[in-house]
Amino acid sequence: MVAENNLSASDLILPIFVTEGKNKIEKIKTMPGVFRYSIDKLNPIIKQASKLKIPLVAIFPHTPNKKKNSVGSEGLNEDNLVCKAIIKIKKINPNIGVMADVALDPYTDHGHDGILKNEEVLNDETVEILSEQALLQAQMGCDVIAPSDMMDGRVGVIRKVLDKNNFKNVQILSYAAKYASNFYGPFRNAIGSIKKLKGNKKSYQMDYKNSSEALREVALDIKEGADFVMVKPALPYLDVIKLVKDNFKIPVFGYQVSGEYTMIAQSIRNKILKEDAILESLMSIKRAGASAIVTYFAIDVAKKINK
Ligand code: PBG
Repeated sequence: MVAENNLSASDLILPIFVTEGKNKIEKIKTMPGVFRYSIDKLNPIIKQASKLKIPLVAIFPHTPNKKKNSVGSEGLNEDNLVCKAIIKIKKINPNIGVMADVALDPYTDHGHDGILKNEEVLNDETVEILSEQALLQAQMGCDVIAPSDMMDGRVGVIRKVLDKNNFKNVQILSYAAKYASNFYGPFRNAIGSIKKLKGNKKSYQMDYKNSSEALREVALDIKEGADFVMVKPALPYLDVIKLVKDNFKIPVFGYQVSGEYTMIAQSIRNKILKEDAILESLMSIKRAGASAIVTYFAIDVAKKINK
């Protein structure tokens, strides 16, 4: 009766890693209990997510090295993994929401989210490519376009391109306050970009010393047309989630990233933490003000809640 917050399956967004080939469900070494699926193997997990009433899945591609280059052109290939996954998921269940990242890091041979020149990421040139990537994903049936690249001005350009091409109902979830974080390590391993990454992403992702800057980033993205904004990572940045929630009337989402997942999942496996730590971590993110949470625990938690 007096609980101030609750968690339901409709608050959860399930990330799914996809890989090339057939008949594959690969373990991800850095993320115990998380797998990469070939497109033909997506059926059971989508059916399960649907049954559990998880409203949205987020697709992340593991691109083979031979398809990577300096400008990430595989991101614009209409036959790439993300495109195939969107089509397949919509075939399995047209009513489950599909979200896809807009960023070049799964496709670049240097691992950065944009194109590089003299060791620098070029903002405006990257935004052009990202808007094409977003349009392609919308054409494939993607419901939520999620720019995770942190270039300046990309939300506005993507919104314009989507509207012009009659994708007015496709929504934009902007990774508005995305920190240059150490907690992305296991994910970079999962998509195969970790060995590739030259340097770091600090020229475009946020400095973890800052929080007012997050408000500026969010304000810009709202003005440019974002439908929701993301704070990422989540647990080390609960103050930022709360700050955004208190300052703007827009849904804010939290991303419980791979490093957060692995710390908890591994400790539970090693019997150092009780399983209830998962719920506690997610409830904290909700308590801070998140409307929804991207989490690799989505299936486990939805099962538990539905029980
Ligand atoms: C890439 C991207 C990253 C994550 C989601 N999209 C990593 C990065 O910026 O290097 C991280 C997710 C996670 O760690 O779970 N644009």
